[in-house]
Amino acid sequence: MNEMQRAPGALFVVFEGGDGAGKSTQAALLARRLQDAGREVLRTREPGGTVIGEELRSLVLDHGRGQVDARTEALMFAAARAAHVEQLILPALARGTTIICDRFIDSSVAYQGVGRGLGTEEVLRLNRWATDGLRPDLTILLDVDPLSGRLRRTQGHGAEDRLESEPDDFHARIRQAFLDRARNDDGTYLVLDASLEVEDLEARIASAVETAIQAAGASS
Ligand code: TYD
Repeated sequence: MNEMQRAPGALFVVFEGGDGAGKSTQAALLARRLQDAGREVLRTREPGGTVIGEELRSLVLDHGRGQVDARTEALMFAAARAAHVEQLILPALARGTTIICDRFIDSSVAYQGVGRGLGTEEVLRLNRWATDGLRPDLTILLDVDPLSGRLRRTQGHGAEDRLESEPDDFHARIRQAFLDRARNDDGTYLVLDASLEVEDLEARIASAVETAIQAAGASS
């Protein structure tokens, strides 16, 4: 992204991981912590965050909306993401906002690229185009094993969406895909074991975000 479009304070933090990893809990805790410290924070999620994104979310995730083949699925997530970046994320970065986003491109690489077998490079290329190359400053990967993920999400809210209800081996491949993305590390990933205590995770995340804030400050 063109750094000229970022005001001081701008930071783009993404939570990634399998279903039931506890992303929403940690995103909420981080948002509260940063707001208490006086930062302007925007919490958002993918697919979603815009009117068109929420419509696409329901089309692609709800059961009973008709067949969604793999390429259509990948394009719908990418379209929701393009709208999200253009309408919400870039303007917020230009205002100096700290963005905390549930899922971003790595989710498409894992679920559509690997889970649906469309290929990681193809899905990456599609999404780099859709987002005009925007990359998170920090990606926090909450690594969850498929069994405890399923247990957590069915305890949490009962019904599973179209992707969540895929079998455990699908989720095992997704898990590995996320880890592979993080291993190609450019220094912007924090990988955490999602089975750690909530407070422990919160503290580790806070410390990594503090480092990212310092780094962003130094480069602005
Ligand atoms: P999520 O919002 O995390 O689910 P929940 O509503 O339970 O918190 O994500 C919705 C589902 O969409 C999840 O199973 C992962 C899937 N997904 C993809 O397959 N590709 C993507 O690019 C994104 C963003 C999500």
